Amino acid sequence: MKENLKKLYIDFFVSKGHAFIPSASLIPENDPSVLFNTAGMQPLVPYLMGKEHPLGKRLTDYQKCIRLTDLDSVGDTTHHTFFEMLGNWSLGDYFKKEAVSYSFEFLTKVLNIPVERLGVSVFRGNEFVPFDDETKECWLNLGIDSKKIVALGEDDNWWGPANVVGPCGPDTEIFYYRGEDVPSSFDVNDKNWVEIWNNVFMQYEKTSNGSFVPLKQKNVDTGMGYERVVAVLEGCYDSYKSSVWIDIIKKIEEISHLSYEGNERSMRIIADHVRSAVFIAGDDVGIKPSNTDQGYILRRLIRRAIRHAKNLNIDLNSDFLEDIAQIVIDNYKDYYEELARNKEVIKEVLRQEKIKFARTLEKGIKEFEKAVSSSIKVIPKDLAFHLYDTFGFPIELTCEMASERSLDVDVEGFHEKFREHQEKSRVGSSKKFAGGLGDHSEISIKYHTATHLLNAALKKVLGDSVHQKGSNITTERMRFDFSWDRKMTDLEIKKTEELVNQYIKEALPVVVKTMKKEEALNIGAEAMFLDKYGDVVTVYFIGDVSKELCGGPHVQNTSCLGHFKIIKEEACSSGVRRIKAILE
Ligand code: ALA
Repeated sequence: MKENLKKLYIDFFVSKGHAFIPSASLIPENDPSVLFNTAGMQPLVPYLMGKEHPLGKRLTDYQKCIRLTDLDSVGDTTHHTFFEMLGNWSLGDYFKKEAVSYSFEFLTKVLNIPVERLGVSVFRGNEFVPFDDETKECWLNLGIDSKKIVALGEDDNWWGPANVVGPCGPDTEIFYYRGEDVPSSFDVNDKNWVEIWNNVFMQYEKTSNGSFVPLKQKNVDTGMGYERVVAVLEGCYDSYKSSVWIDIIKKIEEISHLSYEGNERSMRIIADHVRSAVFIAGDDVGIKPSNTDQGYILRRLIRRAIRHAKNLNIDLNSDFLEDIAQIVIDNYKDYYEELARNKEVIKEVLRQEKIKFARTLEKGIKEFEKAVSSSIKVIPKDLAFHLYDTFGFPIELTCEMASERSLDVDVEGFHEKFREHQEKSRVGSSKKFAGGLGDHSEISIKYHTATHLLNAALKKVLGDSVHQKGSNITTERMRFDFSWDRKMTDLEIKKTEELVNQYIKEALPVVVKTMKKEEALNIGAEAMFLDKYGDVVTVYFIGDVSKELCGGPHVQNTSCLGHFKIIKEEACSSGVRRIKAILE
């Protein structure tokens, strides 16, 4: 099955006039508000919004995705961080009838699933969008029994937007019954009915004021989770027993001289996390382990895998990570050629991170053991921070170790200490930048602060619906993308420019504070990276003009920025404008 499902799927949709498009990078190109692509449609948002796709109106692909919400759940039978999503799209071409019948034909004719094993849900309707009887009718016409069709509300049968705003719509979900005797009716609460495919009828856009407006075109967006479908079709209640995972688990058994039975949790975590780490480190954008953004996720994944390898008594000085990675690369390189191309980079990332962490892991565990032997109920903040700061234990790892012993962690206190620490190192690092020793040139830092000022000025001039969509800084200029659906007038451009220059003249202080994400959102900080990992964020305040979640660095006072000038205002993609500006 493993070899075939992707090929069968793509071949089928190509035979229906769809162009095959290669998987986009794991890291969204046009959407800095999320760390990783979480669905096949994400790289296609501009086209769902109306931009013309060079390969036409019918597309199909398998897309690499990562969902971080599942990270802590990995270890059970079903959760993964990385997964592949098979999908087909109609960009203003076919709609409900064809979408539903393609799905039906693929499942019953290509995968030969008996029709009685299928159940479907459709959208029941709400105050904005009526009951989707058209889709229900399509399913009935194809031969799905009415007892196998249920109508559900927006919690179940509305999908999107993938982010805060964007394309969305009612959907119809297809379920497969994996038990022995198929019941005569479909019951969503029966765990043997497993969702295998989602067809979304994307005809609305959720806008920043929360309303839904019709899109220019009616689209179809579908998604089939590859790992899950392989598992159910192979009859595996434990997804890690399916052919997707078999070689990787076997390798871990071989390395640890243990069997999967009895060691499932640690083996699943190692398998999942190494696979994700291979895909992140192997992506052409070149992510390295670090303490921020995607790099922090990569670090967390590798370090958690290493701790579970230690649980299995795997020799941490061996090349176990590279050996497991090699299996992942071999299994996927025909579909994702970047993994073969970046093989050495991937292995080097794993090797270096292991060398760093293996040195301190043992000592950290000893400290942890010592503390818990004194019958405490809560891991104190000092220990949690010490484990983080001295031994490189991500707080999530400490929490996991504590919960394995039914202990709590003073996470709140940890964050407090973290904030104090950040504050101290900020002072240190701004000195470093002032001395010209940092990676960031002085002019890029100035542009970075100017970006925040421009964001604030645009909100004043155009309104609060303006949100940053991206930015790019060189030593020559800054580029700033933001949500706005028409050309700015000359007057608006002039006003924006004047406002930024006024902020510069006012010599506003730039102050950074570390706080809980919730707190930051409560005080109304701009949050381009809402979906980011972790609960602790740094917020940059510029006078009372701007507050934004951001990793910095920034200048300490706006007075040093010079004169700000907008040199271009143009369309970027549908609903997104782009400004280029300079400091002179
Ligand atoms: N975008 C839809 C999903 O992820 C298909 O379920």
